[in-house]
Amino acid sequence: MTLFDQIFDPEIRPAIRIAAGDPRIERVPGMPDEETGLKRATERRQREFRTGRMLAREALRSLEVAPAVIPAADDRAPVWPEGIAGSITHCHDLCAAAVARKADGFVSIGLDLEPAEPLDADLVSEICADEERLWLAALPAASRGLFARTIFSAKECAYKCQYPLSGKVLDFHAMTISIDGNAGSFVARFNTDVPPFRTGDRLSGRFAIDGLHVLTAMALTSAALAYRGVHGGGRCP
Ligand SMILES: CC(C)(COP(=O)(O)OP(=O)(O)OC[C@H]1O[C@@H](n2cnc3c(N)ncnc32)[C@H](O)[C@@H]1OP(=O)(O)O)[C@@H](O)C(=O)NCCC(=O)NCCS
Repeated sequence: MTLFDQIFDPEIRPAIRIAAGDPRIERVPGMPDEETGLKRATERRQREFRTGRMLAREALRSLEVAPAVIPAADDRAPVWPEGIAGSITHCHDLCAAAVARKADGFVSIGLDLEPAEPLDADLVSEICADEERLWLAALPAASRGLFARTIFSAKECAYKCQYPLSGKVLDFHAMTISIDGNAGSFVARFNTDVPPFRTGDRLSGRFAIDGLHVLTAMALTSAALAYRGVHGGGRCP
């Protein structure tokens, strides 16, 4: 079993395509208009960008979407082809992209990869709220750092998932993460109104950890978004 096999819930998994690969491999330039912001980037950054785009097109191909340009907006968010929701992530040795069709009910996707290394202690206070730090403190000391890393990844994942709807840059205290270690799942709760999300709304995701990486993912469906709209403070599964 790979890191990616069970990262989305079984009900939605068949409609989502994921592709993963190594960003250290040299790649041919991407499609025209895609690389305008990349001219002065380091080689490492060029490789990770090209790998992300290549994997996104690989995932789109398995959805039977023709190769399409995926430009970066001024805010760096990828501009997906019409009718597609997706997300891209990379760390130094692994890159991944996930895509799904909006016609299948998907609104947005969040994906984040991190090295499976404890989060630096000084970052924990910057990233985690009191509630999250209390939860970490109750864990065996040996696993605290890795779960702090998982909270960090879950925040980045939820940030990417909410961004196509809100267009808002959020700081790390805009959401609180609750992790269910046994279920491999987490919930990101909004601590502030970020229209169309309201304080108390929750986005749910899953995480997987192998010896090398922490992966977090979530896919927001229109049904889940509508449920939130009706029930305010409800959970967006
Ligand atoms: C944007 C951000 C989440 C990227 O995360 P990262 O760990 O640095 O990098 P990753 O490799 O996982 O992801 C980078 C990819 O995210 C995507 N991305 C960038 N900005 C994005 C946005 N606003 N919305 C959605 N996706 C975005 C891009 O595809 C990018 O890859 P590319 O530039 O090669 O296309 C991060 O840099 C950031 O700005 N974080 C601060 C905001 C935040 O996370 N707040 C927490 C709220 S609780």
